[in-house]
Order: sequence, then C-alpha cells, then structure tokens
Amino acid sequence: MPDASTPPQRIDQRGKSDCVVSLKNGDSFAVNKNELLLMGALRQGISYPHTCTVGTCGKCKTKLLGGRISPLVDFALSPLTNRELSEGYVLACQAKVRSNLEIDVRLLDHDLILPRPMVGEITGWKILPGDVIDLRVTFEKPFTFQPGQYGALAVSGSYVRRSFSFYDPAPGPEGTREVGFLIKRLPKGRFSDWLARWDRRGVRIWMEAPFGQMGIEDRASDALCIAGGTGIAPVLSIANDRLTRFPERKLTIIFGVRSEGDLFALDKLEAIRARAPKSVRIIPILSHEPAGSAWTGHRGLVTDAIGDDLGMDVRRAAAFVCGSLPMVLAVEDRLKALGMPEAHIHADKFEPSGL
Ligand code: FES
Repeated sequence: MPDASTPPQRIDQRGKSDCVVSLKNGDSFAVNKNELLLMGALRQGISYPHTCTVGTCGKCKTKLLGGRISPLVDFALSPLTNRELSEGYVLACQAKVRSNLEIDVRLLDHDLILPRPMVGEITGWKILPGDVIDLRVTFEKPFTFQPGQYGALAVSGSYVRRSFSFYDPAPGPEGTREVGFLIKRLPKGRFSDWLARWDRRGVRIWMEAPFGQMGIEDRASDALCIAGGTGIAPVLSIANDRLTRFPERKLTIIFGVRSEGDLFALDKLEAIRARAPKSVRIIPILSHEPAGSAWTGHRGLVTDAIGDDLGMDVRRAAAFVCGSLPMVLAVEDRLKALGMPEAHIHADKFEPSGL
C-alpha cells in the first residue's frame, strides 16, 4: 500500500515557482501561486492521488496543516465528510495555492504519466444509438496512457474544455497517435452538441492528457466492471487490460442504458467477450424499456444486476465503476453490502456540465 513516508518522485524541483509545498514526511515540491495544488503536483510527475480532477470523487483529499488556499468550490458540498472538514481536509484539485503550504497526503506507490498538451485532428466520427458519438482523434505525436484514464479535449481556439475517457486498450511504451472517445450528446452541450451537429472529420483538436487513476490496479483478481451510459468507455479499456494481464480471471461487465434503442458499444463489448468467451460475461440492463417490448434481458438499474449469481466471490473481486454520481454511490453501497472491501472498489463519477 502507498505510505506517506514513500518519497515522491521529482521532488524539490523548485525552479521559478512561487510557493513551496512541504509534505509531512519532510519532502517538498514547488507550485505556482494561484495554481491548483493537484495540477501543480501532476505537472511535475508527483504521484498525487486523483481521479476526476473536478471535485466529485474525493480521491485527492489532503490535510492542510499550514498555509493558505482558495477553494474553487464549497468544500461543505463536496465528498469531504463533516469530520474531514473539521480536521482541515481540502480537495487538492479544487484548491488554489495562495502561499507556502504544509500538507499531509498519502502519495501513490506507482509512477504517473505526466499529462501534457497535444494537438490532433478528428479522423473518425460516427453517431451511435443513444445519441452517442464515437469520436476518433489522431494526434501529431504518439503518447501513452493507462487503462481507464482520460483526456481533456477542446476544439482549437475554444475555451470550452471537456474530459472524456479513452476506450482503446492502453498502448505500450511506444505509445499511440490515435484514440477513441464515446461522447453523449447533451442538449445545449457546448462541446457535445457542437460535435454532434455534423461530421467533424478534419477539425483540429487540442487535448491535455492523461488524467485519472481508476484502472490502475495491479491485483490479480476476478473483476466486476459496472458502467452507466458512456461510462462504458473506460471500462472497455480496463477490461481489455485485465484480460491481457490476468487471462485466467473472471470478468463481468454490467452495462446500463435506458432502452434497447440506446444500446451502443455492443460491438466493442462483443470483441472483449470474443477474447475469452469462457471467463467474460456481459450483462446489458435497461432502466426504461417499455413493458411488453421484445427485450428479454435484464431490466432495472445496474444495481439490480449485482447479485449473488455473478459467478465470483465478490468479497475478493475488484470493482471498476463508472457513471453518474448517484449511480456510482448506489453501486458502492450495494457492493459493500455484499461484502466487497472499500479498497477493492475503484470508481469514476462524472457529472455532465450541461453546457
Ligand atoms: S475530487 Fe479531486 S480528483 Fe476527484
């Protein structure tokens, strides 16, 4: 397990930065004044815990022992508990650094790939069922990422920046130039609605990546992947990775959408099942399929498909959960009720910006 005494990488690169962040174990790193604490750390390759970078997952929680930050959000409305708030915890992804800081945070025990900006062009564009866009972008230079990670995309020249997970298997160290995203079209969505209006192949795209840590889990175990809607994108990447690394382990993917007409990505799921038909199980479940339709599969919420019949010992399995905040919270409660330890549950909660 990571330990607060584990020395962070690339420590003490103070350069011209304004503020020094000192960790409880005596190490330190530098960030620019008014920079977000998490981004300042990631920029230097420090293995700072995080997933969402937008204040919803709580993974970057950090105890502030000294110094001043400005919160971007009201921490009372964040995943921090009242007790954590009273003990001085903040969210590093939402904390602008205003002075030298003293902090206590448990850094990760694996290296992170440094996020970096890159430029590419839309080379694949397809509307899938459920108003989902299958977007493929080819970048000028190869880059690498880990399963379940995501990038922040913007059309060149625009300030509208949105984060989406890669659905491809993680590339090797040589990297890849082309990646794919599954993007739900949101009414009035400034990025997604613009993207969906017509074929955007040839448009220049800017991206900063990679971010997130949901799929970085090295334990050989059976795995339960649970996705709502386009939350299936990181699950596809994670599932492919686990089949490569732990081919003898069972893998069940529960995929929830509203109705049969919204079932996109079935071809991608089928390709995963074809890799290991005996150990992979795929359970689509529909929450709003009309009664009396021809659908003979599961109906209900994704939590309704999590039962005793998953063919694995849930207490020993790992779970990878991606979807809306209420969905992820409900799944976490269900898994814990079935005896899965909290440390085995890796979640990525997203909330559409709506803009
Ligand atoms: S709350 Fe900060 S990374 Fe998710």
